[in-house]
Amino acid sequence: MAAHTAARARTPDDDVITATALTKTYGRGTAEVRALDGVSAGIRRARFTAVVGPSGSGKSTLMHCVAGLDTVTSGSIVLDGTEITGLSDRQLTRLRRKRIGFVFQSFNLLPQLTAYENIVLPVTMSGGRPDRDLVDHLCDVLGIAHRMAHRPAELSGGQQQRVAVARALVARPAVIFADEPTGNLDSRAGAEVLTMLRRSVDELGQTVVMVTHDPTAARYADRVLTLADGRVVRDEDAVPTGRAAALVTGTGAGRR
Ligand SMILES: Nc1ncnc2c1ncn2[C@@H]1O[C@H](COP(=O)(O)OP(=O)(O)O)[C@@H](O)[C@H]1O
Ligand SMILES: [Mg+2]
Repeated sequence: MAAHTAARARTPDDDVITATALTKTYGRGTAEVRALDGVSAGIRRARFTAVVGPSGSGKSTLMHCVAGLDTVTSGSIVLDGTEITGLSDRQLTRLRRKRIGFVFQSFNLLPQLTAYENIVLPVTMSGGRPDRDLVDHLCDVLGIAHRMAHRPAELSGGQQQRVAVARALVARPAVIFADEPTGNLDSRAGAEVLTMLRRSVDELGQTVVMVTHDPTAARYADRVLTLADGRVVRDEDAVPTGRAAALVTGTGAGRR
């Protein structure tokens, strides 16, 4: 897969995202909510980072801001060598299209398109031609090669989410953001999708940031950032040798 890895500008420590002193407030006066309250964090390239924390702790806000879907009140975000705070909506749209992949809880596939057409959509929409070898390889790895001609309604939830993962991977984005990707799946389908995200990191060198409130899902990550009240309250690296054990046993025993 090395040939598919684009050479990109490197940020210090090879962080693909460097967020510094982020604040985000909604509303004004007595109605003011400080959703992010001084968040600084680097996201390492080719690693799987989970962002966890209670409901309302700022996980989605952080993801939306670093992915350029929303703007911060103050602070700096360098994404793949580009300072994105201060970019126009048009520039942000372009940046998202070229450098970011998304996986949402609700799959967000287009119902009238086949699985294959959904997967190549980000490439065709930005005027490119899909790399058929890469698409075939991804579909093999994701176990959905035999489902390419089906529409989303003919696929299980787990298959739909794997199509969404393939769609996110095919444009070779600098980062994939997944917001509660297993939220609508049973535990078995959820485990398959998490295994796919894990493999995309291990085998394709993909960078993945996943927001989840599920501690089981977080065990697939290399690193867990915990938010509470808009702040990072914990930043833990997983024990490297524990990862395989967690995937094999599903228990996460020996992870930390
Ligand atoms: N559009 C919005 N308008 C006002 N308050 C918001 C908005 N979005 C989020 N918030 C508030 O910001 C805080 C963080 O929300 P969020 O990032 O969605 O948390 P999480 O994803 O961890 O559940 C919460 O108090 C939430 O109510
Ligand atoms: Mg959320």
